[in-house]
Amino acid sequence: YVSPLLLQVVFLLLAFYSSRVQGERIEKIEQCGVHCSQGLRCKAKSHVSFGFCKKPPDSMSSDVFTNTSVSTVMRCDSSQRCSVHLRVSTVLQIKHIHGIYFCTFAAGLMERCRIVNFPKTQRAKLVDKQVNIQDDCLEVGVGQDMHITLKTWPWFCDMDVFRLHHAPDCSNMDIRRSVTECITGRIHYEVDVERKELAVSVSEMLEDRDYHLRLCHKGFLCTGTGEHVLLKKENPLKNATLKYSRPVPCLCIEGWSVMTDAPRVQVCPFKHRVEELWSGIAFDPVTGTLSWEAACHINAVVSLCELHDGGMCEDLAHSHQTYVKGKVTYSAVDPHPRLCMKFKTEAGVWVKCPFSEGDFPVWYLEVKESQPQLLVTSRVRASLSVSTCSRTGSDMCENTHTSLVDVVSQSYGPVKGTLQPIRHSVNTNCNNQKWHFQYLYIPLW
Ligand SMILES: *[C@@H]1O[C@H](CO)[C@@H](O)[C@H](O)[C@H]1NC(C)=O
Ligand SMILES: *[C@@H]1O[C@H](CO)[C@@H](O)[C@H](O)[C@H]1NC(C)=O
Repeated sequence: YVSPLLLQVVFLLLAFYSSRVQGERIEKIEQCGVHCSQGLRCKAKSHVSFGFCKKPPDSMSSDVFTNTSVSTVMRCDSSQRCSVHLRVSTVLQIKHIHGIYFCTFAAGLMERCRIVNFPKTQRAKLVDKQVNIQDDCLEVGVGQDMHITLKTWPWFCDMDVFRLHHAPDCSNMDIRRSVTECITGRIHYEVDVERKELAVSVSEMLEDRDYHLRLCHKGFLCTGTGEHVLLKKENPLKNATLKYSRPVPCLCIEGWSVMTDAPRVQVCPFKHRVEELWSGIAFDPVTGTLSWEAACHINAVVSLCELHDGGMCEDLAHSHQTYVKGKVTYSAVDPHPRLCMKFKTEAGVWVKCPFSEGDFPVWYLEVKESQPQLLVTSRVRASLSVSTCSRTGSDMCENTHTSLVDVVSQSYGPVKGTLQPIRHSVNTNCNNQKWHFQYLYIPLW
């Protein structure tokens, strides 16, 4: 039993934690405008051109502006239609000046200014006072870097104050929820491994739009797998079931609102299942071609190796290939139960043995003790030299009797050898292919 109070504390802690992680909270304003302290009735309007600056009077102090700061606020028409504004505030010494300019400039854009002026009658009374001025009508793009300049009016040289401000981007939680161009919706899912289905639901999407959901394989782009659903805005249930074929790391659920240039959200449920990629091994018994193709972009070094007792797999010389995309192939491969593929990636090393039982049992030997006979089962045209030998050391086996077994049929079917097994080992030597091992020892008993 978990008490509701405890849950509430946990939620509050989570909310606190995520607001710390995803940037500062952003104040929402009803109406943008200019505000001046000391009862000063200041007014603002936009302004474009400047002439040249004038030399300031000698009696003017050089720090007209003090405590200048820039922050970000939002103004909203509705909960999902907010725009981001700069709030510029400064403390001003009013002597000699009639007003000030707030100007903003961003790379690739024209400078935009607002002029704030003070009524002549009030100016005289405030000459020796400091006035606090704040303006929050300068709209700014999400994530934009802004240069802000404050100038006096009239424009006196060397009095300007500069600030650089980075407006928060869509990663900020408040912006992600309230600025249309950042609203992607949030995807939640559950995996049904048995049915290979993803039960997907979406929240916090744009309310007045339909919503696309699809599965895709993420590479440079995300390429659709064909699974695609449209969630209608009228339907209060924002969920769907999507089928997948393989749980590979680059398989993602992608969602976006029906509108031009809608931002998209991607969630990749199997991103840690790197192992799944190694299942793309194929073998063509007719040409002897062993190949591997990944379902996802991955940087891997692939090699062939020989599996030793104890699990160590020793690389075969010159078999290394660097994989980025496409297919890795090895031709003239002798399908040996101990011939394996090794995959090295940043995440680790994996060894897959396609010819050991279960995957491609291309040939194997079986001892029929009752007969006594040796059974060679093969799917490939092969000529095996089978001998019985006595083990004289870990790698040594002295031949006592050799015979050839030709496996002609390409169909899967047992071909009987003619050996009388004796109490030692069987040692096979395959025909001369490029990638092969000389021997496989099978203890008879
Ligand atoms: C300017 O800021 C400082 C520190 O935040 C504060 O102590 C001072 O009172 C401010 N000046 C005015 C005129 O608001
Ligand atoms: C959507 O959710 C409802 C309620 O949880 C469920 O009954 C329904 O089967 C789901 N629809 C799809 C398509 O998954």
